Amino acid sequence: MKFFIDTANLAQIKEANDLGILDGVTTNPTLMAKEGIKGVEAVTNHYKAICELVDGDISAEVVSVDFDSIIEEGKKLHAIHPNIVVKVPMIKEGVKAIKWFTDNGIRTNCTLIFSAGQAILAAKAGATYVSPFIGRIDDTGWDGMELIHQLRNIFDIQQYKTEILAASIRYPNHIIKCAEAGAHVCTCPLDSILGLLKHPLTDSGLAKFLEDAKKFA
Ligand code: E4P
Repeated sequence: MKFFIDTANLAQIKEANDLGILDGVTTNPTLMAKEGIKGVEAVTNHYKAICELVDGDISAEVVSVDFDSIIEEGKKLHAIHPNIVVKVPMIKEGVKAIKWFTDNGIRTNCTLIFSAGQAILAAKAGATYVSPFIGRIDDTGWDGMELIHQLRNIFDIQQYKTEILAASIRYPNHIIKCAEAGAHVCTCPLDSILGLLKHPLTDSGLAKFLEDAKKFA
């Protein structure tokens, strides 16, 4: 399973990249706004900065909702860097745009996926990735992880090339469950990635080893 970081924060992206386990980055308009980035030039420069930090796929989301504008915006995002993947919402115009991008050699990430039907449509249109939102499904009282299992099963049976990019990760165990369910990619906040490092027995075991090491130093 590939690890992407789900943020537009450059310091967090650098910290995850320095761990040596990072395969890419996902952003969305909310994450970009959180960084105080405003205007086309600032947005473009921010994506450039992310692409310079990480050698992997960088999802950049369109904010248009009609076919012509999605295409125009997506072409501009694609032109920023070869690693940019155009993130397109799961709407009718978005599916049409994903097909157009696919036919024109532009890779896409279909976002806001909450059902198998939506994922099948995006895969049929040729999306590089589909992004099912696990945490937001969990928030409604349903089980987001069931969707990951279902998608992996369908994508294997149908031999879709589209990768399942599990998104809306809330805590470390989500990442472990995604790996079990066969997600191709998991995009996570930094604290969920760092949470995987932690175990109290590691901490107490290390403290004891360091204490005993003093006896023969
Ligand atoms: C990433 O592609 C998604 O936009 C993101 O994971 C959504 O996460 P949230 O539900 O925590 O906002």
